[in-house]
Amino acid sequence: MNIDDKVGKTLQELGMTDAAGVVALFAEVRTAMESEREALVARGASSDPVRDQLCKALRDRWLARKSGLVSLIDENWLKMAMKELKPVVGRQFNQLRQLASCMETEALARDVQVRRDAVVQVRGLQLEASAGSVNVEVTLPGLRRPLGSIHPVIRVQREIEDIFLGLGFKIETGPEIESVYYNFDALNIPETHSSRDDWDTIYVDSKTLLRTHTSPVQIRAMERYVREGSQGGLYIITPGKCYRNDNPDATHSPMFHQMEGLAIDTDITFADLKGTLDFFAKKFFGEKTRTSFHPTFFPFTEPSGEVAVSCHVCDGQGCRTCKESGWIELMGCGMVHPQVLKNGGIDPERYSGWAFGLGIDRFTMARYGINDIQLFFQGDVRFLEQF
Ligand code: PHE
Repeated sequence: MNIDDKVGKTLQELGMTDAAGVVALFAEVRTAMESEREALVARGASSDPVRDQLCKALRDRWLARKSGLVSLIDENWLKMAMKELKPVVGRQFNQLRQLASCMETEALARDVQVRRDAVVQVRGLQLEASAGSVNVEVTLPGLRRPLGSIHPVIRVQREIEDIFLGLGFKIETGPEIESVYYNFDALNIPETHSSRDDWDTIYVDSKTLLRTHTSPVQIRAMERYVREGSQGGLYIITPGKCYRNDNPDATHSPMFHQMEGLAIDTDITFADLKGTLDFFAKKFFGEKTRTSFHPTFFPFTEPSGEVAVSCHVCDGQGCRTCKESGWIELMGCGMVHPQVLKNGGIDPERYSGWAFGLGIDRFTMARYGINDIQLFFQGDVRFLEQF
């Protein structure tokens, strides 16, 4: 019969009729208490919370008011003791109670060490380690670290880059925090021009803003071209982030991605622009794709055009992707305005050029049939892991 069984019975039921038996019985209780304490101290705990939990469990086992072992001894042994045995049981019980104070949680916690090797964590399962040797359950599956993947917008950016790199274009980048001069003035957008309203947005100070398009890189690239005394033409694409004071909705985001294309050489015409963009659209959306150019206005190009491609989903028949029109508008473009060439230090009498600007996010939405631009920037793994 172990201690737990014995405390459930009275001394009489246990056959204790003399003082010597009582003393021996209490000695047995003290030994049990001490060895349980020592076992916990020897084992230690893997962390502070685990230690506190273990200490509290042992404390409750012995000292809980209702069914702790000491209370049961009080109820069943002391209170029920025969008159002749009461004094000796009383003395032994008081002694036990004093000794049992070492089972208070704080007293235990002082002696139980937190050790890294006490418990090994494997996939949320706690495997107890006996002192010195560690039991690891080797048949459990290991920890699998999820692999990341390339963000869909960057994936499409690289796809577009590849097409233009294949045509001999180079990648050029510029700062996202841009000067008002490069973002507007050098691009033929004076302070008083009404077209500035759309883009006159996120300022850092009166001369600096978060660029509203990648077009300022046109000027920076021309300046570099002149500075370095380069020969031949200037053929670049400029991917990067842009910012506008737009409220986020399904098709707008205050931060988005653009890619500018710029070709400057001694005999560039609008035909080169059309040919290049038509080739690009076929490469990106498929050989059946047709392009359509509509006149529009940009202060930095003249003439200016908007480019639509035939819907790659319905092939121009009209569907949800193209909003039943058969066409998807994807780019702005035009011949670089002579004043812009001048601002970049290039002689418009000798050189001409074309430029385009496209929204990479919009291309990505068109490519994958995504109807909400916000999905790109919410970082939801359930969305991103599909790419
Ligand atoms: N910068 C223009 C925009 O953000 C796009 C564009 C670039 C148009 C180059 C023509 C030429 O809307």
